Amino acid sequence: MKNIRQWDAQKYDEVSCLQEKWGEDLIDGIKWDPTYRVIMDAGCGTGRVTKILAQKVGTKGTIYAVDVDPNMVNKAKLNLASFKNVFVIQSDITNVFLPEKVNVVFSNAVLHWIFDHRILFSHFWELLTNTLLTKKTSDGLLLAQCGGHGNLSKVRSILNQMIKLNDFESHFHDWSEPWYFAKPDDTEKLLREIGFENIRVFLSDGTTSFVDRKSYSDFVSTVIIRPYLENLPKKQLKHRFLRLFLDRVEEMKLVWTLDYVRLNIMAECITPTSPFA
Ligand SMILES: C[S@@+](CC[C@H](N)C(=O)[O-])C[C@H]1O[C@@H](n2cnc3c(N)ncnc32)[C@H](O)[C@@H]1O
Repeated sequence: MKNIRQWDAQKYDEVSCLQEKWGEDLIDGIKWDPTYRVIMDAGCGTGRVTKILAQKVGTKGTIYAVDVDPNMVNKAKLNLASFKNVFVIQSDITNVFLPEKVNVVFSNAVLHWIFDHRILFSHFWELLTNTLLTKKTSDGLLLAQCGGHGNLSKVRSILNQMIKLNDFESHFHDWSEPWYFAKPDDTEKLLREIGFENIRVFLSDGTTSFVDRKSYSDFVSTVIIRPYLENLPKKQLKHRFLRLFLDRVEEMKLVWTLDYVRLNIMAECITPTSPFA
């Protein structure tokens, strides 16, 4: 598998109205506690949702916007330059070091790109409690949404049939899908085992339609089928793959729809006050 971590950040910034809306709904869906002051935006992309978070916490808050992809990080730095309370950091969110404890780990449209959720959520727990830097006294919140069980199953079945065709097959010998779409029960169990409380995990329908073939094509080639296209060596072959995919979407009467299923995650980390604090 080649370069699936490198996004076309400029294009993503242009097409990601949908992700921005999801992020905004996630933020507006909870009551913001005044103690939510230090926030990590885990997998910030180009920073469109980070901006909303920065406005939410105001100048008294701090946002650490973390992303592993240098293209995304560079674009986020440009987009967020006017926010003096936002620090953009290039790192993997499964092991990022932050200089202080965070009150909220926020993440939108990212966690399904990571396979080992035990390592991921355990690290989030450490960032929310950060026993190395402070006494264990305050509560923290994990607020996230990502692709969930059954996400894009119709779209993925088209893609998984296409990679068996003669034209493409030789480029997908060692292929496996780059996503993990977790079931709510599995996520809930894992969070409980790590120590989170007041856990709420549920799936929601995120079916989305685009107005025409062009806007659908721009979106899917930037976001969904990008890893498949990156596995193909030549421009011509990539174009053929995309064209065939769009034709099949038309044949299957899926125009121009994406059968998104979202996994919503809310969990608190309530740490006991030390009698010696
Ligand atoms: C679909 S984008 C979402 C970006 C942003 N949160 C938004 O809502 O627009 C997914 C992002 O997750 C980032 N990402 C994936 N795996 C990551 C990891 N292990 N650590 C940090 N960032 C990661 C990608 O680089 C990409 O920017």
